[in-house]
Amino acid sequence: MRAHSLLISSLRGIRGERPPVWFMRQAGRYLPEYRAVREKHSMLDVIRTPELAAQVTLQPLDRFELDGAIIFADILNPLIGMGIELDFVEGEGPRIGNPIQQRDDISRLVVPDPYENTGYTLEAIKSVVSALTPRGIPLLGFAGAPFTLAWYALAESGKSAQGKRIKELIYNDPQGWRELMEKLVEMVSTYLIAQAEAGVSALQLFDSWVGVCSPQMYRTEVLPYLEQVVTQVRASTSVPIVYFPLGGLGLADLVSELPVDAVSVDWRVSLPTVDAAYHHRFPLQGNLDPVILFAPLDTVRRETARILHEGAQITKPHIMNLGHGILPHTPISAVAEVVKTVRAFRYREES
Ligand code: CP3
Repeated sequence: MRAHSLLISSLRGIRGERPPVWFMRQAGRYLPEYRAVREKHSMLDVIRTPELAAQVTLQPLDRFELDGAIIFADILNPLIGMGIELDFVEGEGPRIGNPIQQRDDISRLVVPDPYENTGYTLEAIKSVVSALTPRGIPLLGFAGAPFTLAWYALAESGKSAQGKRIKELIYNDPQGWRELMEKLVEMVSTYLIAQAEAGVSALQLFDSWVGVCSPQMYRTEVLPYLEQVVTQVRASTSVPIVYFPLGGLGLADLVSELPVDAVSVDWRVSLPTVDAAYHHRFPLQGNLDPVILFAPLDTVRRETARILHEGAQITKPHIMNLGHGILPHTPISAVAEVVKTVRAFRYREES
């Protein structure tokens, strides 16, 4: 049974008395109880051990009155079953052992069965759902969007941030690009469907690198594959789907064609501005700058209030969140302050 909640009704377009609030990366290194688990277990071990993944997912819910949880995993671990070697290196981030360099590397990628490849996450989902349903708190599942997964599979460097490798593949080997995207579409769709079957109440697609695309590239090389993912997922589950095109403001007109339920927004734009760019189509999630949480608490309160007032001006519901994940060393008191400010807020009657 899925929880009916402020978060899910907001994602479905029904505004409540206040916006729901949750945070991307709400389980993570800013929490001492998370760091304690990570001292004993590697990142991949936590993800692959359902009891640990469930425990870590629930940690922020025991501290803060959040309106949603997100299952603890990463967008990259599902690539392992495709034949990609992944490790998380302390102080560096994800490292791919055998990045795609030529067509053969794409041809040898397999599309794994999600139950075999990521059964551990599906187990963790079931356990978190049984803990959260009595509390009326919904759980989100997620996956990386095909473009962003391709970015990492090619070991594209975040520092160059231009996407030279991925763009060269697109321009120089269009057939190889198509084959890679088709395999990623299949992996992502079946994985999201399996998460819905395991009991999540919503799904989020992270497209963290799509901001490097021109609208032209996005239209022909990215959007068609995203549409395939969303269409396949929709055909087998009715849970709402959230899309997060980080840095993708210039793509808003094209993104507004996607049949998703809601869009997550980074901090670079105001909610009313982006609402217009999306033709008022979507509930919007976001978009407090994660770095504001390092400011004095009255600044945190004031900036949260500003986002709440901007969110009240958009056409569809607003879901309070950050514009990107919570950063390491974020003060816990600041996270608590945002939650408190949102929970005390009420929409006024429209006049
Ligand atoms: O949001 C959540 O609490 C759910 C879990 C989650 C993680 N990563 C855990 C994680 C989710 C939804 C992600 C998504 C993810 N992972 C994205 C998309 C969102 C974004 O940040 O743009 C991307 C690009 C990744 C890939 C990834 N994983 C990177 C670049 C890094 C290194 C950067 C960092 O923050 O260390 C990771 C590691 C990672 N994923 C951590 C966590 C909690 C830190 C791991 C640790 O050292 O404990």
